[in-house]
Amino acid sequence: MMKMTNDKQLATQALAAVLDNALTESEITNLLEIPKKPEMGDLAFPVFSLAKTLRKAPNMIALDIVEKLSQDGFEKIVATGPYVNFFLDKSATMTSVLSAILEQGEDYATVAPNGEKVAIDMSSPNIAKPFSIGHLRSTVIGDALAEIYRKIGYTPVRINHLGDWGKQFGMLIVAYKKYGDEAAIRQHPISELLKLYVRINAEAAEDPTIDESAREWFLKLENGDAEALALWQWFRDESLVEFDRIYQELGVTFDSMNGEAFYNDKMSEIIDILADKQLLTESEGATVVELEGFENPALIKKSDGATLYITRDLAAALYRKRTYDFAKSIYVVGQEQSGHFKQLKAVLDKMGYAWSEDIYHVPFGLVTKAGKKLSTRKGNVILLEPTIQEAVKRAQAQIEAKNPDLPNKAVVAHEVGVGAIKFYDLKNERLNGYDFNLEEMVSFEGETGPYVQYAHARIQSILKKADFKPEAVIGQSFSLSDDESWAIVKLLQAFPDVINRAARLFEPSAIAKYAINLAQAFNKYYAHTRILEESSEKAARLSLAYATGVVLKESLRLLGVEAPEEM
Ligand code: ARG
Repeated sequence: MMKMTNDKQLATQALAAVLDNALTESEITNLLEIPKKPEMGDLAFPVFSLAKTLRKAPNMIALDIVEKLSQDGFEKIVATGPYVNFFLDKSATMTSVLSAILEQGEDYATVAPNGEKVAIDMSSPNIAKPFSIGHLRSTVIGDALAEIYRKIGYTPVRINHLGDWGKQFGMLIVAYKKYGDEAAIRQHPISELLKLYVRINAEAAEDPTIDESAREWFLKLENGDAEALALWQWFRDESLVEFDRIYQELGVTFDSMNGEAFYNDKMSEIIDILADKQLLTESEGATVVELEGFENPALIKKSDGATLYITRDLAAALYRKRTYDFAKSIYVVGQEQSGHFKQLKAVLDKMGYAWSEDIYHVPFGLVTKAGKKLSTRKGNVILLEPTIQEAVKRAQAQIEAKNPDLPNKAVVAHEVGVGAIKFYDLKNERLNGYDFNLEEMVSFEGETGPYVQYAHARIQSILKKADFKPEAVIGQSFSLSDDESWAIVKLLQAFPDVINRAARLFEPSAIAKYAINLAQAFNKYYAHTRILEESSEKAARLSLAYATGVVLKESLRLLGVEAPEEM
Protein backbone atom coordinates (compact mmCIF):
# COMPACT_ATOMS: atom_id res chain seq x y z
CA MET A 1 0.00 0.00 0.00
CA MET A 2 1.05 3.53 0.55
CA LYS A 3 4.79 3.62 0.86
CA MET A 4 6.77 6.80 0.64
CA THR A 5 9.38 8.73 2.50
CA ASN A 6 7.66 11.01 4.83
CA ASP A 7 9.96 13.97 5.19
CA LYS A 8 7.77 15.50 7.83
CA GLN A 9 8.30 12.37 9.86
CA LEU A 10 12.04 12.57 9.34
CA ALA A 11 12.18 16.23 10.37
CA THR A 12 9.84 15.60 13.30
CA GLN A 13 12.05 12.85 14.68
CA ALA A 14 15.18 14.92 14.27
CA LEU A 15 13.56 17.86 16.09
CA ALA A 16 12.03 15.72 18.83
CA ALA A 17 15.48 14.36 19.62
CA VAL A 18 16.80 17.82 20.48
CA LEU A 19 13.74 19.54 21.96
CA ASP A 20 13.70 17.72 25.30
CA ASN A 21 9.95 17.09 25.33
CA ALA A 22 9.19 20.78 25.00
CA LEU A 23 6.73 19.73 22.26
CA THR A 24 5.13 16.39 21.44
CA GLU A 25 5.86 14.75 18.10
CA SER A 26 2.43 15.56 16.75
CA GLU A 27 2.77 19.18 17.85
CA ILE A 28 6.05 19.36 15.95
CA THR A 29 4.53 17.79 12.83
CA ASN A 30 1.64 20.23 12.92
CA LEU A 31 4.01 23.18 13.15
CA LEU A 32 6.07 22.14 10.12
CA GLU A 33 5.32 24.29 7.10
CA ILE A 34 6.12 24.09 3.44
CA PRO A 35 7.95 27.35 2.62
CA LYS A 36 6.50 29.46 -0.18
CA LYS A 37 9.93 30.08 -1.71
CA PRO A 38 12.05 27.11 -2.79
CA GLU A 39 15.24 28.88 -1.58
CA MET A 40 13.83 28.53 1.95
CA GLY A 41 14.08 24.78 1.63
CA ASP A 42 11.47 22.03 1.61
CA LEU A 43 10.21 22.24 5.17
CA ALA A 44 10.35 25.01 7.76
CA PHE A 45 9.93 24.80 11.52
CA PRO A 46 8.90 28.07 13.21
CA VAL A 47 10.26 28.31 16.75
CA PHE A 48 7.92 30.98 18.17
CA SER A 49 6.00 28.56 20.35
CA LEU A 50 9.26 27.64 22.12
CA ALA A 51 10.28 31.22 22.86
CA LYS A 52 8.11 31.54 25.98
CA THR A 53 9.27 28.39 27.74
CA LEU A 54 12.90 28.82 26.77
CA ARG A 55 12.95 32.59 27.45
CA LYS A 56 15.25 33.22 24.58
CA ALA A 57 15.07 35.22 21.38
CA PRO A 58 13.55 33.14 18.55
CA ASN A 59 16.57 33.71 16.30
CA MET A 60 18.84 32.27 18.97
CA ILE A 61 16.59 29.29 19.51
CA ALA A 62 16.66 28.50 15.78
CA LEU A 63 20.47 28.69 15.76
CA ASP A 64 20.74 26.45 18.84
CA ILE A 65 18.45 23.84 17.34
CA VAL A 66 20.38 23.72 14.08
CA GLU A 67 23.63 23.25 15.96
CA LYS A 68 22.31 20.21 17.83
CA LEU A 69 20.29 18.64 15.00
CA SER A 70 21.41 15.55 13.22
CA GLN A 71 21.61 16.34 9.52
CA ASP A 72 21.00 12.72 8.59
CA GLY A 73 18.79 12.32 5.55
CA PHE A 74 18.95 16.01 4.64
CA GLU A 75 21.12 17.95 2.24
CA LYS A 76 21.39 20.71 4.84
CA ILE A 77 19.51 22.34 7.70
CA VAL A 78 19.92 26.07 8.31
CA ALA A 79 18.51 28.72 10.62
CA THR A 80 16.85 31.66 8.90
CA GLY A 81 15.65 34.16 11.49
CA PRO A 82 13.08 32.39 13.67
CA TYR A 83 12.84 29.40 11.33
CA VAL A 84 14.71 26.15 10.99
CA ASN A 85 14.79 25.33 7.28
CA PHE A 86 15.21 21.77 6.09
CA PHE A 87 16.57 21.01 2.63
CA LEU A 88 15.82 17.48 1.51
CA ASP A 89 18.49 15.25 0.16
CA LYS A 90 17.44 15.48 -3.49
CA SER A 91 18.82 12.17 -4.67
CA ALA A 92 17.36 10.24 -1.76
CA THR A 93 13.98 11.89 -2.20
CA MET A 94 13.95 11.40 -5.95
CA THR A 95 14.87 7.75 -5.57
CA SER A 96 12.22 7.03 -2.99
CA VAL A 97 9.41 8.91 -4.79
CA LEU A 98 10.18 7.48 -8.23
CA SER A 99 10.70 3.98 -6.84
CA ALA A 100 7.33 4.08 -5.13
CA ILE A 101 5.60 5.03 -8.39
CA LEU A 102 7.58 2.58 -10.52
CA GLU A 103 6.62 -0.21 -8.14
CA GLN A 104 3.03 0.73 -7.44
CA GLY A 105 1.93 2.32 -10.71
CA GLU A 106 -1.61 3.64 -10.49
CA ASP A 107 -1.85 2.33 -6.91
CA TYR A 108 0.61 4.99 -5.81
CA ALA A 109 -1.10 6.97 -3.01
CA THR A 110 -3.97 4.45 -2.83
CA VAL A 111 -5.09 3.63 0.70
CA ALA A 112 -6.39 0.13 1.54
CA PRO A 113 -10.18 -0.11 1.96
CA ASN A 114 -11.20 0.96 5.47
CA GLY A 115 -14.66 -0.59 5.30
CA GLU A 116 -16.40 2.76 5.68
CA LYS A 117 -19.02 4.06 3.29
CA VAL A 118 -19.63 7.53 1.96
CA ALA A 119 -23.13 8.13 0.62
CA ILE A 120 -23.08 10.70 -2.17
CA ASP A 121 -26.34 12.32 -3.19
CA MET A 122 -25.54 13.58 -6.67
CA SER A 123 -27.05 14.60 -10.00
CA SER A 124 -30.69 14.28 -8.86
CA PRO A 125 -32.46 15.96 -11.80
CA ASN A 126 -36.18 16.53 -11.84
CA ILE A 127 -38.44 14.32 -13.91
CA ALA A 128 -40.21 16.08 -16.77
CA LYS A 129 -37.77 18.98 -16.63
CA PRO A 130 -34.55 19.52 -18.56
CA PHE A 131 -31.29 18.29 -17.10
CA SER A 132 -29.73 21.61 -16.12
CA ILE A 133 -26.13 22.75 -15.88
CA GLY A 134 -26.61 22.68 -12.13
CA HIS A 135 -27.37 18.98 -12.41
CA LEU A 136 -24.29 18.57 -14.59
CA ARG A 137 -22.16 20.22 -11.89
CA SER A 138 -23.67 17.98 -9.23
CA THR A 139 -23.02 14.93 -11.42
CA VAL A 140 -19.37 15.60 -12.17
CA ILE A 141 -18.47 16.92 -8.70
CA GLY A 142 -20.23 13.98 -7.04
CA ASP A 143 -18.60 11.48 -9.37
CA ALA A 144 -15.14 12.94 -8.69
CA LEU A 145 -15.69 12.93 -4.93
CA ALA A 146 -16.72 9.28 -5.16
CA GLU A 147 -13.40 8.31 -6.77
CA ILE A 148 -11.37 10.60 -4.49
CA TYR A 149 -12.92 8.98 -1.43
CA ARG A 150 -12.40 5.52 -2.87
CA LYS A 151 -8.73 6.37 -3.36
CA ILE A 152 -8.35 7.06 0.36
CA GLY A 153 -10.06 3.86 1.40
CA TYR A 154 -13.79 4.59 1.56
CA THR A 155 -16.50 2.84 -0.41
CA PRO A 156 -18.59 5.43 -2.21
CA VAL A 157 -22.32 4.95 -2.82
CA ARG A 158 -23.55 7.11 -5.68
CA ILE A 159 -27.20 7.97 -5.17
CA ASN A 160 -29.38 9.72 -7.72
CA HIS A 161 -32.16 11.29 -5.66
CA LEU A 162 -34.41 11.87 -8.64
CA GLY A 163 -36.94 14.66 -8.29
CA ASP A 164 -39.84 12.39 -9.16
CA TRP A 165 -42.42 13.42 -6.57
CA GLY A 166 -44.12 16.57 -5.40
CA LYS A 167 -46.93 18.92 -6.27
CA GLN A 168 -45.45 19.68 -9.69
CA PHE A 169 -46.63 16.25 -10.78
CA GLY A 170 -50.16 17.30 -9.87
CA MET A 171 -49.66 20.31 -12.14
CA LEU A 172 -48.34 18.13 -14.91
CA ILE A 173 -51.26 15.71 -14.72
CA VAL A 174 -53.73 18.59 -14.88
CA ALA A 175 -51.90 19.98 -17.91
CA TYR A 176 -51.74 16.62 -19.62
CA LYS A 177 -55.41 15.97 -19.12
CA LYS A 178 -56.21 19.38 -20.60
CA TYR A 179 -53.77 19.64 -23.49
CA GLY A 180 -51.61 16.52 -23.58
CA ASP A 181 -50.58 14.95 -26.86
CA GLU A 182 -49.40 11.42 -26.21
CA ALA A 183 -47.57 10.98 -29.51
CA ALA A 184 -45.67 14.25 -29.13
CA ILE A 185 -44.57 13.29 -25.62
CA ARG A 186 -43.36 9.92 -26.82
CA GLN A 187 -41.25 11.67 -29.41
CA HIS A 188 -39.73 14.48 -27.35
CA PRO A 189 -40.63 13.68 -23.78
CA ILE A 190 -38.84 16.34 -21.84
CA SER A 191 -39.42 19.27 -24.13
CA GLU A 192 -43.12 18.39 -24.48
CA LEU A 193 -43.60 17.89 -20.76
CA LEU A 194 -41.77 21.13 -20.10
CA LYS A 195 -44.07 22.95 -22.53
CA LEU A 196 -47.08 21.56 -20.68
CA TYR A 197 -45.60 22.56 -17.37
CA VAL A 198 -44.83 26.12 -18.48
CA ARG A 199 -48.27 26.51 -20.02
CA ILE A 200 -50.14 25.28 -16.96
CA ASN A 201 -48.10 27.44 -14.62
CA ALA A 202 -48.85 30.52 -16.69
CA GLU A 203 -52.52 29.61 -16.59
CA ALA A 204 -52.42 28.97 -12.86
CA ALA A 205 -51.25 32.53 -12.31
CA GLU A 206 -54.62 33.68 -13.67
CA ASP A 207 -56.86 30.85 -12.57
CA PRO A 208 -56.69 29.63 -8.95
CA THR A 209 -58.77 26.50 -9.66
CA ILE A 210 -55.75 25.02 -11.49
CA ASP A 211 -53.68 25.09 -8.35
CA GLU A 212 -56.56 23.51 -6.52
CA SER A 213 -56.86 20.59 -8.95
CA ALA A 214 -53.07 20.15 -9.04
CA ARG A 215 -53.13 19.74 -5.27
CA GLU A 216 -55.92 17.21 -5.57
CA TRP A 217 -54.04 15.22 -8.19
CA PHE A 218 -50.88 15.17 -6.14
CA LEU A 219 -52.85 13.92 -3.15
CA LYS A 220 -54.34 11.21 -5.33
CA LEU A 221 -50.83 10.30 -6.37
CA GLU A 222 -49.68 10.13 -2.76
CA ASN A 223 -52.69 7.93 -2.00
CA GLY A 224 -51.93 5.51 -4.81
CA ASP A 225 -54.70 6.43 -7.29
CA ALA A 226 -54.25 4.16 -10.33
CA GLU A 227 -54.71 6.78 -13.05
CA ALA A 228 -52.43 9.28 -11.36
CA LEU A 229 -49.80 6.62 -10.79
CA ALA A 230 -49.90 5.38 -14.38
CA LEU A 231 -49.37 8.89 -15.75
CA TRP A 232 -46.62 9.57 -13.25
CA GLN A 233 -44.89 6.29 -14.13
CA TRP A 234 -45.04 7.12 -17.80
CA PHE A 235 -43.60 10.63 -17.37
CA ARG A 236 -40.86 9.14 -15.23
CA ASP A 237 -39.95 6.39 -17.67
CA GLU A 238 -39.81 8.76 -20.62
CA SER A 239 -37.64 11.23 -18.73
CA LEU A 240 -35.25 8.53 -17.60
CA VAL A 241 -34.62 7.48 -21.18
CA GLU A 242 -33.34 11.00 -21.84
CA PHE A 243 -31.34 11.22 -18.64
CA ASP A 244 -29.74 7.84 -19.30
CA ARG A 245 -28.45 9.09 -22.63
CA ILE A 246 -26.72 11.95 -20.83
CA TYR A 247 -25.23 9.65 -18.18
CA GLN A 248 -23.96 7.39 -20.91
CA GLU A 249 -22.26 10.32 -22.65
CA LEU A 250 -20.71 11.38 -19.36
CA GLY A 251 -19.71 7.84 -18.40
CA VAL A 252 -21.37 8.14 -15.00
CA THR A 253 -23.25 5.34 -13.24
CA PHE A 254 -25.18 5.15 -9.99
CA ASP A 255 -25.51 2.62 -7.21
CA SER A 256 -29.01 3.76 -6.42
CA MET A 257 -31.71 5.51 -8.44
CA ASN A 258 -34.04 5.84 -5.47
CA GLY A 259 -35.66 9.19 -6.03
CA GLU A 260 -38.10 11.11 -3.89
CA ALA A 261 -41.00 8.81 -4.78
CA PHE A 262 -39.16 5.87 -3.26
CA TYR A 263 -39.74 7.39 0.16
CA ASN A 264 -43.49 7.70 -0.27
CA ASP A 265 -44.16 4.79 2.07
CA LYS A 266 -41.33 5.74 4.43
CA MET A 267 -42.55 9.14 5.51
CA SER A 268 -45.21 8.03 7.96
CA GLU A 269 -42.49 6.54 10.13
CA ILE A 270 -40.71 9.89 10.16
CA ILE A 271 -43.89 11.63 11.19
CA ASP A 272 -44.46 9.03 13.92
CA ILE A 273 -40.95 9.50 15.29
CA LEU A 274 -41.34 13.27 15.25
CA ALA A 275 -44.70 12.98 17.01
CA ASP A 276 -43.27 10.52 19.54
CA LYS A 277 -40.48 12.89 20.42
CA GLN A 278 -43.02 15.70 20.66
CA LEU A 279 -41.29 17.73 18.03
CA LEU A 280 -44.36 18.50 15.93
CA THR A 281 -46.44 21.63 16.27
CA GLU A 282 -49.32 23.06 14.29
CA SER A 283 -48.81 26.29 12.44
CA GLU A 284 -51.57 27.75 10.27
CA GLY A 285 -53.01 24.27 9.80
CA ALA A 286 -49.65 22.83 8.69
CA THR A 287 -47.45 20.49 10.73
CA VAL A 288 -43.99 21.86 11.46
CA VAL A 289 -40.87 21.35 13.56
CA GLU A 290 -39.80 24.55 15.30
CA LEU A 291 -36.08 25.20 14.97
CA GLU A 292 -34.18 27.56 17.22
CA GLY A 293 -32.00 30.04 15.39
CA PHE A 294 -33.88 29.57 12.11
CA GLU A 295 -36.09 32.11 10.47
CA ASN A 296 -38.69 29.50 9.55
CA PRO A 297 -39.76 26.20 11.05
CA ALA A 298 -39.31 23.03 8.98
CA LEU A 299 -42.57 22.38 7.14
CA ILE A 300 -43.28 18.65 7.40
CA LYS A 301 -46.88 18.32 6.24
CA LYS A 302 -49.18 20.79 4.53
CA SER A 303 -52.67 21.49 5.81
CA ASP A 304 -54.09 19.08 3.20
CA GLY A 305 -51.78 16.31 4.41
CA ALA A 306 -49.35 16.45 1.47
CA THR A 307 -45.72 15.87 2.35
CA LEU A 308 -42.84 18.08 1.33
CA TYR A 309 -39.33 17.98 -0.07
CA ILE A 310 -37.79 17.97 3.41
CA THR A 311 -40.11 15.20 4.64
CA ARG A 312 -38.78 12.99 1.86
CA ASP A 313 -35.21 14.04 2.64
CA LEU A 314 -35.69 13.08 6.29
CA ALA A 315 -36.93 9.65 5.24
CA ALA A 316 -34.05 9.35 2.76
CA ALA A 317 -31.44 10.28 5.38
CA LEU A 318 -32.71 7.64 7.81
CA TYR A 319 -33.01 5.05 5.06
CA ARG A 320 -29.42 5.70 3.98
CA LYS A 321 -28.13 5.44 7.53
CA ARG A 322 -29.89 2.09 7.98
CA THR A 323 -29.02 0.75 4.55
CA TYR A 324 -25.41 1.85 4.22
CA ASP A 325 -24.43 2.76 7.76
CA PHE A 326 -22.45 5.60 6.19
CA ALA A 327 -19.46 7.27 7.82
CA LYS A 328 -20.33 10.39 5.87
CA SER A 329 -23.42 11.32 3.91
CA ILE A 330 -22.87 14.13 1.46
CA TYR A 331 -25.27 16.07 -0.74
CA VAL A 332 -23.83 17.72 -3.83
CA VAL A 333 -26.49 20.34 -4.44
CA GLY A 334 -26.40 24.02 -5.48
CA GLN A 335 -25.80 26.59 -2.76
CA GLU A 336 -29.30 27.99 -3.23
CA GLN A 337 -30.47 24.97 -1.18
CA SER A 338 -28.22 25.68 1.82
CA GLY A 339 -31.20 26.65 3.97
CA HIS A 340 -32.89 23.35 3.21
CA PHE A 341 -29.89 21.27 4.24
CA LYS A 342 -29.34 23.28 7.40
CA GLN A 343 -32.93 22.53 8.34
CA LEU A 344 -32.50 18.86 7.44
CA LYS A 345 -29.49 18.53 9.73
CA ALA A 346 -31.18 20.46 12.50
CA VAL A 347 -34.31 18.27 12.44
CA LEU A 348 -32.22 15.07 12.43
CA ASP A 349 -30.27 16.42 15.36
CA LYS A 350 -33.50 17.15 17.26
CA MET A 351 -34.61 13.60 16.52
CA GLY A 352 -31.58 12.53 18.52
CA TYR A 353 -29.51 11.09 15.69
CA ALA A 354 -25.87 11.70 16.53
CA TRP A 355 -25.04 10.85 12.92
CA SER A 356 -26.59 14.15 11.80
CA GLU A 357 -23.02 15.37 12.37
CA ASP A 358 -21.89 13.20 9.47
CA ILE A 359 -24.19 14.94 7.01
CA TYR A 360 -22.55 17.47 4.75
CA HIS A 361 -24.11 19.75 2.19
CA VAL A 362 -21.51 20.26 -0.53
CA PRO A 363 -22.76 23.35 -2.34
CA PHE A 364 -21.57 24.81 -5.62
CA GLY A 365 -21.97 28.11 -7.44
CA LEU A 366 -23.90 29.13 -10.52
CA VAL A 367 -22.85 28.79 -14.13
CA THR A 368 -23.38 31.81 -16.36
CA LYS A 369 -23.29 32.14 -20.12
CA ALA A 370 -21.69 35.21 -21.68
CA GLY A 371 -21.63 36.65 -18.17
CA LYS A 372 -25.40 36.36 -17.74
CA LYS A 373 -27.47 34.17 -15.50
CA LEU A 374 -29.07 31.25 -17.27
CA SER A 375 -32.78 31.59 -17.72
CA THR A 376 -35.09 29.33 -19.70
CA ARG A 377 -37.56 32.17 -19.92
CA LYS A 378 -35.07 34.62 -21.39
CA GLY A 379 -33.64 32.08 -23.78
CA ASN A 380 -30.20 32.06 -22.13
CA VAL A 381 -29.93 28.28 -21.91
CA ILE A 382 -27.31 25.59 -22.28
CA LEU A 383 -28.79 22.39 -23.67
CA LEU A 384 -26.60 19.59 -22.54
CA GLU A 385 -26.71 17.08 -25.37
CA PRO A 386 -26.03 19.51 -28.23
CA THR A 387 -23.33 21.12 -26.10
CA ILE A 388 -21.55 17.81 -25.58
CA GLN A 389 -21.77 17.11 -29.31
CA GLU A 390 -20.30 20.51 -30.07
CA ALA A 391 -17.41 19.93 -27.63
CA VAL A 392 -16.63 16.60 -29.28
CA LYS A 393 -16.74 18.22 -32.72
CA ARG A 394 -14.30 20.92 -31.66
CA ALA A 395 -11.98 18.36 -30.12
CA GLN A 396 -12.11 16.33 -33.30
CA ALA A 397 -11.17 19.35 -35.42
CA GLN A 398 -8.10 20.03 -33.29
CA ILE A 399 -7.04 16.41 -33.33
CA GLU A 400 -7.50 16.33 -37.08
CA ALA A 401 -5.12 19.29 -37.39
CA LYS A 402 -2.50 18.03 -34.92
CA ASN A 403 -2.50 14.33 -35.61
CA PRO A 404 -4.30 13.46 -38.85
CA ASP A 405 -3.15 9.82 -38.80
CA LEU A 406 -4.40 9.04 -35.31
CA PRO A 407 -6.37 5.78 -35.28
CA ASN A 408 -9.85 5.83 -33.64
CA LYS A 409 -10.09 9.60 -33.76
CA ALA A 410 -13.78 9.55 -32.90
CA VAL A 411 -13.19 7.75 -29.59
CA VAL A 412 -10.36 10.10 -28.65
CA ALA A 413 -12.39 13.16 -29.67
CA HIS A 414 -15.18 12.01 -27.37
CA GLU A 415 -12.75 11.51 -24.49
CA VAL A 416 -11.27 14.94 -25.08
CA GLY A 417 -14.56 16.80 -25.66
CA VAL A 418 -16.38 15.35 -22.65
CA GLY A 419 -13.23 15.51 -20.53
CA ALA A 420 -12.89 19.19 -21.41
CA ILE A 421 -16.36 20.02 -20.09
CA LYS A 422 -15.83 18.03 -16.89
CA PHE A 423 -12.35 19.35 -16.24
CA TYR A 424 -13.40 22.97 -16.70
CA ASP A 425 -16.16 22.49 -14.20
CA LEU A 426 -13.90 20.78 -11.68
CA LYS A 427 -10.91 23.09 -11.85
CA ASN A 428 -12.95 25.92 -10.35
CA GLU A 429 -13.36 25.93 -6.60
CA ARG A 430 -16.85 24.58 -6.47
CA LEU A 431 -18.38 27.57 -4.69
CA ASN A 432 -17.18 29.85 -7.45
CA GLY A 433 -19.45 29.69 -10.40
CA TYR A 434 -17.98 30.03 -13.87
CA ASP A 435 -18.85 31.24 -17.30
CA PHE A 436 -19.63 28.45 -19.73
CA ASN A 437 -17.21 29.06 -22.59
CA LEU A 438 -16.90 26.01 -24.80
CA GLU A 439 -14.05 27.41 -26.86
CA GLU A 440 -11.92 27.95 -23.79
CA MET A 441 -12.85 24.55 -22.33
CA VAL A 442 -11.78 22.58 -25.37
CA SER A 443 -8.60 24.57 -26.01
CA PHE A 444 -5.34 22.58 -25.90
CA GLU A 445 -3.65 25.60 -24.33
CA GLY A 446 -4.28 27.13 -20.93
CA GLU A 447 -5.59 25.48 -17.79
CA THR A 448 -7.76 22.92 -19.51
CA GLY A 449 -8.47 19.22 -19.59
CA PRO A 450 -7.06 18.80 -23.11
CA TYR A 451 -3.84 20.50 -21.97
CA VAL A 452 -3.37 17.91 -19.24
CA GLN A 453 -4.42 15.05 -21.51
CA TYR A 454 -1.95 16.25 -24.11
CA ALA A 455 0.92 16.29 -21.62
CA HIS A 456 0.03 12.73 -20.67
CA ALA A 457 -0.10 11.62 -24.31
CA ARG A 458 3.23 13.30 -25.02
CA ILE A 459 4.81 11.35 -22.19
CA GLN A 460 3.40 8.08 -23.55
CA SER A 461 4.92 8.83 -26.92
CA ILE A 462 8.34 9.51 -25.36
CA LEU A 463 8.19 6.28 -23.36
CA LYS A 464 7.18 4.34 -26.43
CA LYS A 465 10.08 5.71 -28.45
CA ALA A 466 12.47 4.69 -25.70
CA ASP A 467 10.71 1.34 -25.23
CA PHE A 468 10.68 2.15 -21.52
CA LYS A 469 9.81 -0.67 -19.09
CA PRO A 470 9.35 0.30 -15.44
CA GLU A 471 10.29 -3.23 -14.27
CA ALA A 472 13.72 -2.77 -15.82
CA VAL A 473 14.66 0.17 -13.57
CA ILE A 474 13.02 -0.79 -10.28
CA GLY A 475 15.63 -0.81 -7.53
CA GLN A 476 17.90 1.75 -9.17
CA SER A 477 18.70 5.05 -7.54
CA PHE A 478 17.96 8.22 -9.41
CA SER A 479 19.76 11.50 -9.30
CA LEU A 480 19.07 14.53 -11.45
CA SER A 481 20.41 17.92 -10.57
CA ASP A 482 18.30 20.40 -12.55
CA ASP A 483 15.61 22.55 -10.90
CA GLU A 484 12.96 21.47 -13.39
CA SER A 485 13.14 17.80 -12.47
CA TRP A 486 13.24 18.62 -8.76
CA ALA A 487 10.03 20.64 -9.14
CA ILE A 488 8.36 17.55 -10.62
CA VAL A 489 9.61 15.27 -7.85
CA LYS A 490 8.20 17.61 -5.22
CA LEU A 491 4.82 17.59 -6.95
CA LEU A 492 4.79 13.80 -7.26
CA GLN A 493 5.65 13.52 -3.59
CA ALA A 494 2.76 15.82 -2.69
CA PHE A 495 0.10 13.72 -4.47
CA PRO A 496 -1.17 11.87 -1.35
CA ASP A 497 -1.52 15.14 0.57
CA VAL A 498 -3.40 16.71 -2.33
CA ILE A 499 -5.88 13.82 -2.43
CA ASN A 500 -6.45 14.07 1.30
CA ARG A 501 -7.06 17.78 1.09
CA ALA A 502 -9.48 17.34 -1.83
CA ALA A 503 -11.42 14.78 0.21
CA ARG A 504 -11.42 16.76 3.44
CA LEU A 505 -12.63 19.93 1.73
CA PHE A 506 -14.90 18.10 -0.75
CA GLU A 507 -12.95 20.01 -3.37
CA PRO A 508 -12.05 18.16 -6.59
CA SER A 509 -10.54 21.45 -7.80
CA ALA A 510 -7.50 20.65 -5.63
CA ILE A 511 -6.80 17.65 -7.87
CA ALA A 512 -7.54 19.54 -11.10
CA LYS A 513 -5.21 22.41 -10.14
CA TYR A 514 -2.57 19.91 -9.14
CA ALA A 515 -2.86 18.14 -12.50
CA ILE A 516 -2.40 21.47 -14.29
CA ASN A 517 0.67 22.25 -12.18
CA LEU A 518 2.16 18.86 -12.85
CA ALA A 519 1.50 19.08 -16.60
CA GLN A 520 3.06 22.55 -16.67
CA ALA A 521 6.07 21.39 -14.68
CA PHE A 522 6.56 18.52 -17.08
CA ASN A 523 6.28 20.75 -20.15
CA LYS A 524 8.88 23.04 -18.65
CA TYR A 525 11.17 20.09 -18.09
CA TYR A 526 10.52 18.86 -21.61
CA ALA A 527 11.48 22.25 -23.01
CA HIS A 528 14.79 22.22 -21.06
CA THR A 529 15.89 18.64 -21.40
CA ARG A 530 16.45 16.15 -24.17
CA ILE A 531 14.87 13.28 -22.37
CA LEU A 532 15.77 10.70 -25.00
CA GLU A 533 19.40 11.74 -25.43
CA GLU A 534 21.86 8.97 -24.50
CA SER A 535 23.54 9.74 -21.17
CA SER A 536 23.98 8.29 -17.71
CA GLU A 537 20.89 10.26 -16.71
CA LYS A 538 18.61 8.73 -19.29
CA ALA A 539 17.06 6.08 -17.02
CA ALA A 540 16.33 8.70 -14.37
CA ARG A 541 14.82 11.07 -16.94
CA LEU A 542 12.59 8.37 -18.38
CA SER A 543 11.57 7.21 -14.92
CA LEU A 544 10.61 10.76 -14.07
CA ALA A 545 8.54 11.00 -17.26
CA TYR A 546 6.91 7.65 -16.55
CA ALA A 547 6.04 8.61 -12.97
CA THR A 548 4.59 11.91 -14.17
CA GLY A 549 2.46 10.05 -16.72
CA VAL A 550 1.14 7.67 -14.05
CA VAL A 551 0.18 10.49 -11.71
CA LEU A 552 -1.36 12.65 -14.46
CA LYS A 553 -3.49 9.74 -15.59
CA GLU A 554 -4.53 8.92 -12.06
CA SER A 555 -5.40 12.56 -11.35
CA LEU A 556 -7.58 12.65 -14.44
CA ARG A 557 -9.21 9.36 -13.49
CA LEU A 558 -10.13 10.77 -10.08
CA LEU A 559 -11.89 13.58 -11.95
CA GLY A 560 -13.74 11.19 -14.24
CA VAL A 561 -11.63 12.25 -17.23
CA GLU A 562 -10.04 9.78 -19.64
CA ALA A 563 -6.36 9.93 -20.53
CA PRO A 564 -5.90 8.80 -24.15
CA GLU A 565 -2.52 7.25 -24.94
CA GLU A 566 -2.30 9.26 -28.11
CA MET A 567 -4.07 12.39 -29.31
N1 ARG B 1 -34.03 17.50 -7.43
C1 ARG B 1 -33.45 18.59 -6.71
C2 ARG B 1 -33.22 19.77 -7.65
O1 ARG B 1 -33.06 19.59 -8.83
C3 ARG B 1 -32.12 18.23 -6.09
C4 ARG B 1 -32.19 17.13 -5.07
C5 ARG B 1 -30.98 17.08 -4.21
N2 ARG B 1 -30.95 16.02 -3.26
C6 ARG B 1 -31.67 15.95 -2.13
N3 ARG B 1 -31.56 14.88 -1.39
N4 ARG B 1 -32.45 16.94 -1.77
O2 ARG B 1 -33.19 20.89 -7.19
